[in-house]
Amino acid sequence: MATSNSVFRTRSLDSLLAETKGKKALKKVLGPFELMMLGIGAIVGTGIFVLTGVAAANYSGPALILSFVFSGITCSFAALCYSELAAMIPVAGSAYTFGYVGLGEIWAWMIGWDLLMEYMVAVSAVAVGWSGYIVALLESGGIKLPSALVNPPGLNGGMINLPSVLILFVIMLFLFRGVSESAKLNDILVLIKLGVVVLFIILGVGHIKPVNYHPFFPYGVGGVFKGAAVIFFAYIGFDAVSTAAEEVKNPQKDLPIGIIGSLLVCTILYIIVSAVLTGVLPYYVYKDTAAPVAFALQQIGISWGSALVSVGAVCGLTSVLLVMSYGSTRILFSLSRDGLLPQVFSSVHPKYGTPVKSTVLVGIIVMLLSGFVPLGELATLTNIGTLFAFIIVSASVIVLRKRRPEYNRPFKCPWVPFVPIVSILFCAYLIWNLPHLTKMVFVLWLCIGLVIYFCYSRSHSVMNNEDNAFSPKDGK
Ligand code: ALA
Repeated sequence: MATSNSVFRTRSLDSLLAETKGKKALKKVLGPFELMMLGIGAIVGTGIFVLTGVAAANYSGPALILSFVFSGITCSFAALCYSELAAMIPVAGSAYTFGYVGLGEIWAWMIGWDLLMEYMVAVSAVAVGWSGYIVALLESGGIKLPSALVNPPGLNGGMINLPSVLILFVIMLFLFRGVSESAKLNDILVLIKLGVVVLFIILGVGHIKPVNYHPFFPYGVGGVFKGAAVIFFAYIGFDAVSTAAEEVKNPQKDLPIGIIGSLLVCTILYIIVSAVLTGVLPYYVYKDTAAPVAFALQQIGISWGSALVSVGAVCGLTSVLLVMSYGSTRILFSLSRDGLLPQVFSSVHPKYGTPVKSTVLVGIIVMLLSGFVPLGELATLTNIGTLFAFIIVSASVIVLRKRRPEYNRPFKCPWVPFVPIVSILFCAYLIWNLPHLTKMVFVLWLCIGLVIYFCYSRSHSVMNNEDNAFSPKDGK
């Protein structure tokens, strides 16, 4: 039997729930609408505005639509698993916390460590994309910023990517003020970006030429899955809804609505956008454009639409930054509150009720990454981190149904274990389709995580002095 200092010790749900009511509690201000907006805020961004072109031109061709369908199905299965756990364990920290209750401390730590990397790399990459759009927009208005200030060292004579650092600084200030203020800004940005996506569909649909759909599989059926592994980035974010669990008024009901609702809206939009995008122009013309959606409108002669879409994309990317930065701070907060990282990062600001110190640390790291590191290829690193978390979450659903059948499950994932198992297999298949280098970097990150766990986290974990810690085999 595992002992209470076993690396597989788990948190009890009751102790976690009690903690959310204690002095380190976060304010409860979010309802189902805000959660859906939070989800869409995190989801619609670089994936649809930038990566669709890359995937259509290099991997999927017109079958991009099938790449979106495959990734969408994978995410729906994972979303059902997320919803069950988020409604049952409405505590900040998302997959990390689920792992702590379901699988044991070492797994929880590895997920938390993984999520921290995933979110911070995603935020940095999206900020670089944001900077690219702003620079292009300014240039179209006749303002040219010096190359040294808009590129990282080693790229086009760059010194620092200043616009991306500045936007991340502004985002950090918003997050200080609290989630409800951030949520209000987020709502406006989400409405704008949904507006431009719908505008693109309306303007583009009449220009579809069926001939552009031939050949449908220029890179074979295998290309569909390689494309799916890349555009998977477009779906990332619905999981960020569950990082807000502690700030939700009625988590048991609202979290599943937020998670599944935001994913559904985005899946439908993505499938239509990819059909229009590959229908109005041949897939290969998107090879060299970083702004395929605006580019397509430009090419079919709707310049005003193209400009509007660019502005909307900037808003869209800003909201992704807001929500993903928010998610990173809450993961750091949870790891720190549990003693796995220094406790200083889980103090809550007396006036704002937000974890200001973890917000500052995350802010500094993402500003450094986006200002000084070229992050072009790092979308795939974000993908592998997310897919790994999805696998663990899906496994946790099966394990917890067996180990803790008595827990109250206000939302139940249907057809367990079928849905979680398919989710695991599909995620693993997408990981397999990612570049080799991505997999190597990811394994390295996990190894560093293991070293930190054994050198620091294990001995500092709050579980060392908790009565309610129990090993997996206790109880049931
Ligand atoms: N899904 C988010 C995006 O596409 C991460 O930007």
